[in-house]
Parts: sequence; C-alpha cells; structure tokens
Amino acid sequence: MCLNEIGLRHGTDKSTLKHGYTFIYERYFAPLRDQSINLLEIGVKDGASLRMWAEYFPNASIYGIDIDPKCVSHETDRIKIFAGDQQDAKFLDDLATQIGPFDIIVDDGSHRSAHQQASFRALFPYLKDGGWYVVEDLAGTYGRWGSGYKHPQSSPNFLKSRVDDLNYIWHRQTVSDYTLQIGAVLFYPQLCIIQKQLYKHPHLSNYDELIPFIYKYKFKTIVEVGVRKCQNATRILRSVCGEFIDEYWGVDIWQPGRHKNSIAQWEKVYEVAQYMERNIPQLQLKKMRSVEAAKTFEDGYFDLVYIDANHRYIPVQEDIAAWWPKLKQGGAMTGHDYTPGFGGVRRAVLERFPKQDVFFLSDNGSSWGVWK
Ligand SMILES: C[S@@+](CC[C@H](N)C(=O)[O-])C[C@H]1O[C@@H](n2cnc3c(N)ncnc32)[C@H](O)[C@@H]1O
Repeated sequence: MCLNEIGLRHGTDKSTLKHGYTFIYERYFAPLRDQSINLLEIGVKDGASLRMWAEYFPNASIYGIDIDPKCVSHETDRIKIFAGDQQDAKFLDDLATQIGPFDIIVDDGSHRSAHQQASFRALFPYLKDGGWYVVEDLAGTYGRWGSGYKHPQSSPNFLKSRVDDLNYIWHRQTVSDYTLQIGAVLFYPQLCIIQKQLYKHPHLSNYDELIPFIYKYKFKTIVEVGVRKCQNATRILRSVCGEFIDEYWGVDIWQPGRHKNSIAQWEKVYEVAQYMERNIPQLQLKKMRSVEAAKTFEDGYFDLVYIDANHRYIPVQEDIAAWWPKLKQGGAMTGHDYTPGFGGVRRAVLERFPKQDVFFLSDNGSSWGVWK
C-alpha cells in the first residue's frame, strides 16, 4: 500500500485529504521503507501522521513531540511521544541526544517562522548524513504566522538561504552553520525538504575547511605557519570572516624546502605574499623559521594557530611545541595535510595529543584540530 493510501486510512491531512504531501514524500522516502530508520515529527495532534509513518516504515522507530501533554496518549508500542515546546532548544537537544540521530525529521508543529527555525537550528545537527528535514505548511509564514513575504526572518527566506550553503564552494561569499552540509533544497507548494549531505570533496582546499570554522568561532587573532603565497589567508580575509579578524599573521621562510622551487621562484612567491600584505590590512608577515617566529609573540596571543609548513614528522612536532604556548586558553590549534601521504603530520599530532581530543574541520578530514 502506498503512503497516501495509508495516510488516508489514518486520516492525516498530509494525504490527499488535504495537502497531498504523501506523494512527494514517497519519492524520497521509498528507499528507506524497510530500513530501521529513526523518524521524528514535531506536531502530534491526534497521532494520525505518526500512525501513518509507523505503518509505512515497519522497522522504524517513530517519535513525536507536541506542546500539548495530552498528545502523549497517542503512544503505542511503535510510537513514542514527548511533551515539549519546539522552540525550546534545551528540550530538543536533550531529547535528540537520547533518541537521535535521525533519518527523517518532519516539522508539522506551530507553523510559525520563528518556531520552525528554532527547531531546525536545534535538530539539524542530529540529522544523519543523507537524512531529510521537512518543513510543512509554509503558507502561514507568508501571513499571520510569519514575518511576511520576503521578510529576512521568514522561514521561506531562511530555507532559501540553504541553497547558498549548498553552493558555497562556488561562491564563498556567505557562511552559515550549515555550509558544506546541505545536499538538496527542494521546494514544493507549502513544503520544503532539505537533505543533509556532508560535503566530501577529495580536493577540498584549506580555506574551504577553515572559513566555516573561523566564522563559527569568530577567531580574531590568527597565525598561519607556512603561508606561502597567502592564497589561503587572502581567501579567508576576503570572506565574511574578514569582518571580525583583527590580526592574521603569516609566517614562512620563503626558501627552498618542501616545495622544491628554486630560490628565484621563492622570491617571486614572497613578492606575491608582500603584495597581499600591502593590500589586506589585517595581514602581517614574518619571514623567519617557524620556531623562531613563535618566540616573537607573547604566550596566549592567538585564538587560532594553523600549521601548514613542513609536513615531515620532526618539523610538525617542533611547530606544535613552539606554537602551543602562544595559543590562548580556549583557542584552537589546527593544521593541514593529515593524510596518508604526509604520515609525519598524523604521527606528530597523535604523539602530542590524545586521539579523542583530535577533531577534523570537515568530513574530508585533511585538517586536524585540537582545542586548548
Ligand atoms: C498540524 S497539528 C499536527 C498534525 C499531525 N502531524 C498529523 O498530521 O496528524 C500541529 C500540532 O503542533 C502542536 N504544536 C503547536 N505549537 C507547538 C510548539 N511550540 N511545540 C510543539 N508542538 C506544538 C499542536 O499542539 C498540534 O498538536
């Protein structure tokens, strides 16, 4: 039996009783039908849609949230219901920690713009890679339940911006908490379906990983060790991060080493870097060996240290040792090329830091990070 027939039988308005979303859902959800997925719906009312999901997905765990505690009476052996407010980030966070992550999240709650966005912010981190987030009944957000047509705070506007997250690699103009995490943004009448997809690109550049990270934590004082042409630094400082970065130090020896360019070629590279320094106010260069350059800064000076110099084991080990004291408490040390090709980076990082403390800036996993 198809989803619409099941929905009609249970009397949900997602079926052709009213909205007809069921036909749209089936296009995307059919491959999950027999899997043991986790589905969460906001807005239970009389439980009709939860019963529809439970029947359509025989192996799934089905969860509902409603502000009305009476809705809990619609629980069955297959359906678990929690009473709470969809705007309450703490409630959603606690709940999702307990029962998430989810394959499908459906927001059929209050249909108010602010509520929809509060739930999205709280729950999107708990959506699995490849999972679906649905916002239903957008009609109200154009009128009495939203902020109005094209209002910056309306849900349609918020959801449309996710297209920029999905195309980030090709514009690099804006960054959000969802950048590099959106695979599809589908609009249907009154309905938006977003697929989460962690961006996995084999050649993700340093700045593709760093810009969202810097933006999220608003690091103000940064040093990049091994800055070369300042290509990475320039991208970062000309992105939205440039608005809050106060100082971006670039350290390099600009001499033959890892990149087997000649002295003359390195001079050219240094000229480019100096040109960037003249043109970008926050950028300041130090032409010194990394370990010597570190000594010229006070301890606890930086919010972010990015190590991308010589990727052999001993130099990385020395760079970590030299720059770690220069990092503020609560700051982050990160570095590039944590890849099999540069085994020295991995070895130096894992010898210096417990494995569980090391995180990666993107799913691509080439930039490592550690909090101080
Ligand atoms: C459209 S009904 C849900 C219908 C149900 N999903 C179905 O298709 O059978 C909306 C539900 O959202 C609930 N609701 C309204 N505001 C809420 C909020 N802030 N947090 C959680 N639930 C809310 C209401 O109590 C109501 O039961």
